[in-house]
Amino acid sequence: MLVSGEGTNLQALLDEALPVVAVASNKPGARALERARAAGVPTAVFELADYPDRAARDTAMADWLEERGVRLVVLAGYMHLLTPPFLARFPDAVVNVHPSLLPAFPGAHAIEEQLAAGVAESGATVHLVDEGIDSGPVLAQERVPVLPGDTAETLHERIKAVEHRLLPKVVRELCAR
Ligand code: GAR
Repeated sequence: MLVSGEGTNLQALLDEALPVVAVASNKPGARALERARAAGVPTAVFELADYPDRAARDTAMADWLEERGVRLVVLAGYMHLLTPPFLARFPDAVVNVHPSLLPAFPGAHAIEEQLAAGVAESGATVHLVDEGIDSGPVLAQERVPVLPGDTAETLHERIKAVEHRLLPKVVRELCAR
């Protein structure tokens, strides 16, 4: 799994005993790394600043994942774009979870943008990753209502509750392929 933040989606996969064999992050302080360590899963940090460019960083990260036998890469709150050299190493085997009804509201500020747009409905999407920003074929999607008085925090919590159900379900199906 690739993570940058809290790691609640990582936790959902761990809690369902899915075979998480390695967790990598672009951020050394990510809470997600603590969750992985607590579960005894190998972790590594690949900070952009330590490499000449993104492609070099992504190649090092792909090498590390491959060495650990990774066959499916799950982006769970991983907030960097992956370069073509990385995606070529795991063809049709990189998935992402995103807090909107994609293709609506891609990007890093989906929650705030949905509230600003005044949408009545948001959602959670799990999709295959391609070279675009939160693009690629949708594998699963579920609607989440936006309620009066919602803040970014309350809406994101409601969406995450759905993500924690949807992502493990899709990952389980992909592992059984
Ligand atoms: C999740 O809500 C995920 O959908 C979102 O980041 C959060 C990570 O939470 N991802 C994106 O916005 C990707 N564009 P977590 O670290 O607690 O799993």
